[in-house]
Amino acid sequence: MSFYNERQWLCRRIFMNYKKKGIPKQTHLFYGADYNPDQWQKYPDILERDIELMKELGATSASIGIFAWTSLEPEEGRFEFGWLDCVMDRFAAEGLFVFLATPSGSKPMWMSEKYPEIRRVNQDGARDSSGGRHNHCPSSCIYREKVSLMNRTLAERYGKHPALALWHIGNELSGECHCANCKASFQAWLRARYVTLENLNESWWSNFWNHTFTDWAQIPTYDHSIDCLELDWLRFVNDQHLSFLKNEMASIRELTPDVPCTTNFMCMHLSNNYWEWAEHIDVISNDIYPMPDDREGSWARSIKADFVHSMMRGMSGGKSWMQMECAPSSVNWGTVNKLKRPRVHRQEILQAVANGADTIHYFQWRKSRGGFEKFHGAVVDHEGSSDSRVFKDCAQVGSDLQALGSVLQQDCPKADIAIIYEWESRWAMNASCGPKKDTSLGPFPADIYTDACLSHYEAVTSSGQSADVVSARSDFSDYRMIIAPSLYMVSEKLARKFNAFVESGGILVGTYLTGYVDPTNLCWLGGFPGSSLRQLFGIWNEEIDYLCDGEQVTVIPEEGNNLGCYTEGVAFDIIERIHLEGADVIARAGSDCYIDSPLITRNSTSKGAAYYIGAKLDSGTLLEFYRGFVSAYDLIQSVSAELPLGVVARKRQTASGELVFLFNYNKEEVSIDLEGLQLRDTLTEELLTGAVQLASYSSHICEVVRIGS
Ligand code: GAL
Repeated sequence: MSFYNERQWLCRRIFMNYKKKGIPKQTHLFYGADYNPDQWQKYPDILERDIELMKELGATSASIGIFAWTSLEPEEGRFEFGWLDCVMDRFAAEGLFVFLATPSGSKPMWMSEKYPEIRRVNQDGARDSSGGRHNHCPSSCIYREKVSLMNRTLAERYGKHPALALWHIGNELSGECHCANCKASFQAWLRARYVTLENLNESWWSNFWNHTFTDWAQIPTYDHSIDCLELDWLRFVNDQHLSFLKNEMASIRELTPDVPCTTNFMCMHLSNNYWEWAEHIDVISNDIYPMPDDREGSWARSIKADFVHSMMRGMSGGKSWMQMECAPSSVNWGTVNKLKRPRVHRQEILQAVANGADTIHYFQWRKSRGGFEKFHGAVVDHEGSSDSRVFKDCAQVGSDLQALGSVLQQDCPKADIAIIYEWESRWAMNASCGPKKDTSLGPFPADIYTDACLSHYEAVTSSGQSADVVSARSDFSDYRMIIAPSLYMVSEKLARKFNAFVESGGILVGTYLTGYVDPTNLCWLGGFPGSSLRQLFGIWNEEIDYLCDGEQVTVIPEEGNNLGCYTEGVAFDIIERIHLEGADVIARAGSDCYIDSPLITRNSTSKGAAYYIGAKLDSGTLLEFYRGFVSAYDLIQSVSAELPLGVVARKRQTASGELVFLFNYNKEEVSIDLEGLQLRDTLTEELLTGAVQLASYSSHICEVVRIGS
C-alpha cells in the first residue's frame, strides 16, 4: 500500500469508527476549512499558493465543492471535472484530505430557470426567483433526480481517490416550502400518520373554530390557529429534509460504502430535529458561530456554545464529533461584526475539543474576491500572505491541536448528569398560544423552551459539573440525574420511562411547563404535570402565572431542606401554583399572592427522587439549588476545587490517562484557588496549584500532577 493509500485507509477507518469501539490511532486532529477553488479558476497560481499556506498552517484537510454545481455542470448534462481532478490530485500528492461536498446547497441558474418547481414557494404562494442559496424545494422530484445524478457522478469519479476522506452532504439543510408538491406531500404524510380524517380532526381538536376537515385536500400547510397543524407541519418539514438527505446519500453509499457521510448541523436550528438526523449519518458535524457581542457578555456566549457541544457529544453517543465550520475572526452577517479579542478564538476551538470535537474546520479558508461573503473572516485574507494576525493566530491554534493528538478516538467521559433537549416539545410550546415566547431565529433561538434548557445547563456547569445533553430517547440508566427543563410535551411512554428511572434510584428534575400536552399538543386532562407525572412528582400544578418584565417573587428555602439551601432567592417571569400531593417542600414563595405556596419540591421513592421547580429562578438561585445537589448526592466534579463564575474545567480521556481543560470565559482576569490540586499546562509546562490567576479568555490544557482533597 502506498503512503497515501495507507493514510486514506486509516482516515476512513477513523471516521467509520466514530460511533464504534476499537478505534485505531491517529496522530492529528483534522484541521482545515471550507475551500472554494472553483471560484479561483481564472487565477492559476492560487491553488499552489493555498496548498503552501495550508502546509504552513498545519492544515490536514479542506471541505471542497460545497457551492460548486455550476463549475461541475455548466450546462445540463455537460460535466466539467478538470479543475476538481487537479485539486484532488494536488491534495493527495501533498498528503492533504478532501471532505468532498455534494453541491446541492445552491442550484445552478440554468437549472433554476428551466425547472421552476425546484424553487421554493413562500406561505403566501409566491415562488422564489432564481438566486440565493439553501432554497431548493425539498419535495421536488426533479431536484432530487438532479442531485442523485450529480452525486453518483462524483462518487464514480472520486470514490477511490486517495484524497477523499469524507462526504460532506449538501450544506446546512433547512427551511420550508409551501408549493403544491409540498402541500400534496404534507397531506399524504398526514394520511399515513392519522389514517382517517376522523382521527386527524380529533387529534387536532378541529371542532374548535370550525376547522373540521372533510377532505384531505382541504388541509393547508399553514394556519397559526391550529396548533397541532403547526406542530405536524414542522415534523413533516423535518422528515422532508431527512428524506432529501437520504436520497443524496443513496447513490454515494451504494458506490462508496467505506467512505463515511456527514451533513453539517446548525446547533439548535429551529426546524431540524437533529436527534433524528444523527441516526442516519456516519459522523456528527456541526457549524457554530458564537457572536463576540459584548452586550450579551462573554460568559453567556460561551455557555451556549458549551451546551451545543455537549449536545453534539450526546448525538455521537459520547464519541468524538466534528466542528465543521466556525469563524477564525469576525463574521459579516451579524448586527455587530466584532473581531475576536485576543485568546477568544483559541478558547473557542479548545472549548470544542474539550467537549469532544476532534476536527476543527473554519468557514472559510480564503476570503472570496466578490459576492456576499467577501468580508467574512477567513484564514487567508485578500492580502494573501501568512503575515496577517488571523493567519498567525490560526497557525498557533494548529500547533496546539497537533499537541492534542492523544485525545483522538477516545470516548468522552460520561457525566453523572444529563439534560434533555427535545425539538418536538419546543415546537409544540411555540405553536401554542399562551406561554410567553420569543422565537427569534439564529444559532441560538431565544424561545422559552431553549432558554429553560440553557439556564439549567449553565447552573449545572457553574456548580462544577459536566452534563451531557441527550434526547428523551436516550438510555437514562447511564446517568444518576436527569434534568428535563420545561418538557412541555410528554407521552405516556416517556412518563413511564421517568417513573422507571426514579424507581431504580435516579434523580429526576422537572420544572415549570412540564407535562402540559400529549404528542398531538392536546392538553393532558386530570391536572398538570400530565400522564403519570402528577404522581411521580407528588404535586398538582393548578395554574401558571406569567409576570411582567421586572416583577419578582422571593424564594424562601424551607428550613432543614435536604439540599442544604438556605439563601433567599428570586423567581421571575413564570410562577406556577403548586399543591403538594405527597412531595416535601424545598422552597416556598415569599411574596405576592403566592406567599407560602411551594415552589421547589421533592418526592422521594424508596431509592430515587423527583424534584419539581415550579418557577423560573434567577441564575444565582438555580446555582444554589444545583450546588445543593452536588453535595447531597455526592456528584462527581471535573476538579475538586470550587470555581468562580465563568471558570470551567472539562476532562477528556487520552490514550494514557486524562487531560483537564481549564477555561476562564470572563472578559476579566480572575483568581481561583486550586487548593491541593496540582495541574501542569502541557504546552507551557506552567504548574497550576494553590491560588492561581487566570488571564481573561485564557485556556489551559493540563495534566493532573496531584489530585486535591
Ligand atoms: C454558514 C454556511 C457557510 C457560510 C457561513 C458564514 O452558515 O454554511 O457556507 O455562509 O455560514 O458564516
